[in-house]
Amino acid sequence: MNILVIGIGYVGLVSGTCFAEMGHHVTCLDINEEKIENLQKGLIPIYEPGLEEMVKRNIKSKRLSFTTDYATSVPHAQVCFIAVDTPTTKYGAADTSQVEMVARTLAHHLQQYCVIVTKSTVPVGTTSKVRDIVAQGLQERDICLDFDVVSNPEFLKEGNAIHDFMKPDRVIIGVNNAQAAAIMKEIYSPFMLNHERLLVMDICSAELAKYAANAMLATRISFMNEMANLCEKLGANVSWIRKAIGADERIGNKFLYPGVGFGGSCLPKDVRALIAQAQAVDLELAILQAVQEINQQQKNVMYAKLQAYFASQGGVRGRTIGILGLSFKPDTDDMREAPSLVLMQALLQEEAVLRVFDPIAMSKAKSMMGNDSSITWCQDELEVAEGADALVLMTEWKQFRFLNVQAILDRMTGRGFFDGRNQYQPEEMARKGFDYFSIGRQPAYAHEHQKPSQIVNVLFEMQIGPS
Ligand SMILES: NC(=O)c1ccc[n+]([C@@H]2O[C@H](COP(=O)([O-])OP(=O)(O)OC[C@H]3O[C@@H](n4cnc5c(N)ncnc54)[C@H](O)[C@@H]3O)[C@@H](O)[C@H]2O)c1
Repeated sequence: MNILVIGIGYVGLVSGTCFAEMGHHVTCLDINEEKIENLQKGLIPIYEPGLEEMVKRNIKSKRLSFTTDYATSVPHAQVCFIAVDTPTTKYGAADTSQVEMVARTLAHHLQQYCVIVTKSTVPVGTTSKVRDIVAQGLQERDICLDFDVVSNPEFLKEGNAIHDFMKPDRVIIGVNNAQAAAIMKEIYSPFMLNHERLLVMDICSAELAKYAANAMLATRISFMNEMANLCEKLGANVSWIRKAIGADERIGNKFLYPGVGFGGSCLPKDVRALIAQAQAVDLELAILQAVQEINQQQKNVMYAKLQAYFASQGGVRGRTIGILGLSFKPDTDDMREAPSLVLMQALLQEEAVLRVFDPIAMSKAKSMMGNDSSITWCQDELEVAEGADALVLMTEWKQFRFLNVQAILDRMTGRGFFDGRNQYQPEEMARKGFDYFSIGRQPAYAHEHQKPSQIVNVLFEMQIGPS
């Protein structure tokens, strides 16, 4: 099948490449000329494990190509996937202007029957709007040409995108006629060899299903963050709470990790957009409003802990704070709405000095933070620790899970370790010499750990402490 993918970001590039890998002929189109020139040379604009090799392999086998030219690519396409960005407007809704722009351009160039698919996350009604725009464009050209529209929202996770696309939990197809459904089934049939995971439904439900899924995931995170904050106040340990509730099959154990708040290009934006969609039909989504509010507070939690720790010594002003991990989650370079940005801005406002490191997201972080002389961009975690009063672990990259903590402590001026991802055991870190703070667990202090009674606790914690 000849497929055109429009908008070559995280979703478009992964989708197009995976379609090519499964034997389709795919043209990837973007308006960003530099991006397309680089892709034509095999240079990948994003970090996604396994993607680069797959792109190169499919370019070589001539199943995958890149262009900025609508005029030459649209006429041959049997199916066009629209995967452009749908950012937040100043009112919180999803900005679908680029989706609409693509629809107008498609109408200008279509020459044969085509299935036009919204793969971007779009509010209910957008796919119908695309149909209207294309119909109007064709009318203006005074040609009679059949086409269909389909909603096919994408559920891949950055960092695991290839696996998610090749072995999807489900593929949602929103259609209003059998011909389009049959074409979509054909496209996805190579991905369904072992297990049928295609859910064919009406267009409106398909559009809403994507938002509902992200809203549910965001709710679980904010719920766990709220439980974590309660644990800290009541003296409980959120890791035990997570294990206890996750063992219940009705709840399940995924997405129950408390942390520094959710970020990225999807969850915050999609929760906002769903609230806005509901408001437009006079409905208040109270749970999601709370989810959003809790998340805003949680993004400040590490800053609040740092302030409290240094309160007796005049606060964080002038302190050197090391930050480990900047991307909103591991295995991606995506910095959009990353909690680290909120922390860095708050610390800079207090005139703290920052030493930061991320294995992959450094250049994207630099471009977002600008040229601030109070930030030292380091080569690794040891350089971050050099002269630091405290360290904050913001992203659970694999290399931060097994830190050489002794070497780190030796380089630090202070001994505060703020673990935003609960990667370490509190008593063990205190025994190694840190004042250790995490999420939803009690702090552990180096000096307290020297007491004989604490040593008994350490042994107890080491034997039974939840991971
Ligand atoms: N990133 C994710 O993990 C993810 C997962 C599922 C769904 N989504 C959704 O998929 C959509 C795309 O997300 P993304 O993260 O890939 O976006 P992105 O910002 O990484 O990429 C969007 C691309 O579209 C291009 N573009 C914009 N307007 C264009 C136009 N008129 N013609 C051609 N190209 C154009 C941009 O140049 C850019 O390269 C969004 O709606 C998003 O919510 C994203």
